[in-house]
Amino acid sequence: MKETTCALILAAGKGTRMYCETRPKVMLELLGEPMLWYVYKALAPVFHTRLHTVVGFQAEVIGDTFHDHLERMIIQEQQLGTGHALQVAWDSLKKAGYTHCLVINGDTPLISTETIEHMLETAQREEADLAFATITPEGPNAFGRVLRDKDGNVSAIVEKKDYDPATHGPEPAEVNAGIYLLRMDTIEPLLGWLSNANKSKEYYITDLVEFAIADKLKVHAVECGNDVSLMGVNNPAELVEAEEVLRARIIADYQAQGVIIRSPSSVRIGPRANIKPGVEISGPCEIYGETCIGSEAKVEAFTSIFETWISERSTIHPFSHLDQAVVGHDCSVGPYARLRVGAVMEDEAKVGNFVEMKKAVLGAGSKASHLTYLGDAEIGAGVNIGAGTITCNYDGVNKHRTTIKDGAFIGSNTALVAPVTVGANALVGAGSTITKDVEANGMAIARGKQISLRRKR
Ligand code: UD1
Ligand code: CA
Repeated sequence: MKETTCALILAAGKGTRMYCETRPKVMLELLGEPMLWYVYKALAPVFHTRLHTVVGFQAEVIGDTFHDHLERMIIQEQQLGTGHALQVAWDSLKKAGYTHCLVINGDTPLISTETIEHMLETAQREEADLAFATITPEGPNAFGRVLRDKDGNVSAIVEKKDYDPATHGPEPAEVNAGIYLLRMDTIEPLLGWLSNANKSKEYYITDLVEFAIADKLKVHAVECGNDVSLMGVNNPAELVEAEEVLRARIIADYQAQGVIIRSPSSVRIGPRANIKPGVEISGPCEIYGETCIGSEAKVEAFTSIFETWISERSTIHPFSHLDQAVVGHDCSVGPYARLRVGAVMEDEAKVGNFVEMKKAVLGAGSKASHLTYLGDAEIGAGVNIGAGTITCNYDGVNKHRTTIKDGAFIGSNTALVAPVTVGANALVGAGSTITKDVEANGMAIARGKQISLRRKR
């Protein structure tokens, strides 16, 4: 059965309760990754390429981010409800020859592979035509209410908006988690029964429960208690709550692996990071994207690191920002340093306070200790870059490169007007504006001569 079971993620909705106009709800991020990323991650080990997605509101944003899934995205032009999303996808799933379909709301980023497998196993064991997961969360919530008859058998799911105690009785604690396993041949005839005659004027997938029972099909509720992995994200508070669950899990995992994390409640590490045992991290800080941090490296407080490689024993001092950079071993960065895309520090290099690097290599053992901009530059090994050095890489139209060879010494407050090369072991006098190449072992001073006069009184 597994090989002929597909998954369908419902991700077409706008997420009105999120008040976000620029992205679909499933693209809002938790620890630097879109909500949908987590759903794909949990489902991929079970469904591989049998993983389909219904998209609609700003579908192109989802397609651009998840290229691997683009081929299996189905467009729901108008979002008329979860039942309608299923109707729209149905034919293509049927044509693909699937016998069963697991439908899951795209706004469940905490979902785990184990919960999905549990769902599939239970549904198979029960030979259910329709199985769905239920939870019993604490406190009031907006989930669909699960109705049971006096024998305890499920009779329907009633959405909160449509729930009327006068007709339905006292509100049950058990609610619908938004994951369904459908046997396609027996459920198919029921799709045509869906209507939007309800408070939301939407076609509800949840109505299939009542229809299946009326059609004498086997319906089974997979009771999952208060399994947090089934939490739905519908508003900003729930987004942050789900993110906090993920955050705490990741921190606990790293602590168990031997990473020292100080002020752990303020450290945010994304799920794609790879941090080696023996690393020390102090909060508050955030480490997102595919960031790798080698053993005994230190990340101090108030740093923000994205998609960056940091080798062994390097230290990132407070208030530094690293974005798509590479830091060799035994380097020192910051405090207050900014390494932008393409910044590469070779081993034992140092970048101090208020230094910015972009598309620039700082060679092994080289230092730029204070107040410097290095952009579109190649700097060799053992170079000293004085305080206030600027590579003037932009002429208003094009970017140009600066090359500084091994062992050169750049005096403080130097402007290097690119394209320009400073040869190996050359010296540039402080305050120079260098517009011509400097030879190896040469010395260049390019500043107004000092004149000394007697002061007039
Ligand atoms: C839904 C269930 C509710 C359940 C809850 C669990 C229905 C009618 N209700 O409510 O019983 O307790 O999930 O979290 O299904 N979507 C589409 N196309 C649409 C509408 C929605 O793809 O036309 C997608 C959304 O992007 C979202 C998912 O379906 O990812 C669920 O939609 P949402 O509006 O969040 O449903 P809930 O009100 O949470
Ligand atoms: Ca929802």
